Amino acid sequence: MADEELPPSKLGTKSHWDDVYEREVRVFNDVGDEGEVWFGESSVTKMRKWAHRYLSSSSSPIRVLECGSGNGTLLLSFLTSPGDIPQAFHLTGIDYVERAAVLARSIEQTRRENLEDEIDEEEEVINPVEIEWRTEDLLRKDFKGEQWDLVMDKGTYDALCLSPDGITEENDRLPSQVYPEKIAQLVGKDGFFLITSCNFTEEEIKSRYTKEGLGDSSVPHPSFSFGGKSGTTVCTVAFKKV
Ligand SMILES: C[S@@+](CC[C@H](N)C(=O)[O-])C[C@H]1O[C@@H](n2cnc3c(N)ncnc32)[C@H](O)[C@@H]1O
Repeated sequence: MADEELPPSKLGTKSHWDDVYEREVRVFNDVGDEGEVWFGESSVTKMRKWAHRYLSSSSSPIRVLECGSGNGTLLLSFLTSPGDIPQAFHLTGIDYVERAAVLARSIEQTRRENLEDEIDEEEEVINPVEIEWRTEDLLRKDFKGEQWDLVMDKGTYDALCLSPDGITEENDRLPSQVYPEKIAQLVGKDGFFLITSCNFTEEEIKSRYTKEGLGDSSVPHPSFSFGGKSGTTVCTVAFKKV
């Protein structure tokens, strides 16, 4: 079961995501709606809280990458932190759809403008945060040794495992196999990979990523799962580079 592939679907095609973000940019410009929050706000809160708890501030700014960052709402949650000690972040969002970066930049600008008014100053602090939104295909880009302290994935592995296409011309390497190898290269020394998935169980995610030198056992992370859409389960798993 652990290595069973999912049947291809349009959610695994770039043309689907091109259409999604074309529409979402239009809606944001018309009515200010930020678009889909995959797996709901609770998954954003849980991933951000995990990062806040386990990332050491020894490297500053902390470098965080979101793979398949879409509208950017997960990374934008790092604009503030719970407590009263600000933490500097350098955030990178990579998505292969150019309109996703356009949407994320617009949402970032609006959120930054409203930050002072919306923050609860007794519970949260505004962080010094720099953000880069990049348009790149994670499966095909040569990252030439670039690395991050924390790499995050929320729904992207789920999507690219539904791709009808292989990575090579011979079609002999599947996105589901190539992506974990890429992730292992992108996580820096002592760094972390944090993934939330709805198409795979926690055991399946562990079996696909531990092969790549990412160990899940040494991190005392709260592992949680809850019912997502009916019949599916959402799990979040943290890995530490070993
Ligand atoms: C389910 S959405 C999740 C978006 C975002 N992570 C979130 O939680 O809101 C999957 C995202 O992965 C992006 N994506 C899929 N395959 C990709 C690839 N090969 N390279 C870069 N981005 C990709 C899609 O464009 C889409 O934005």
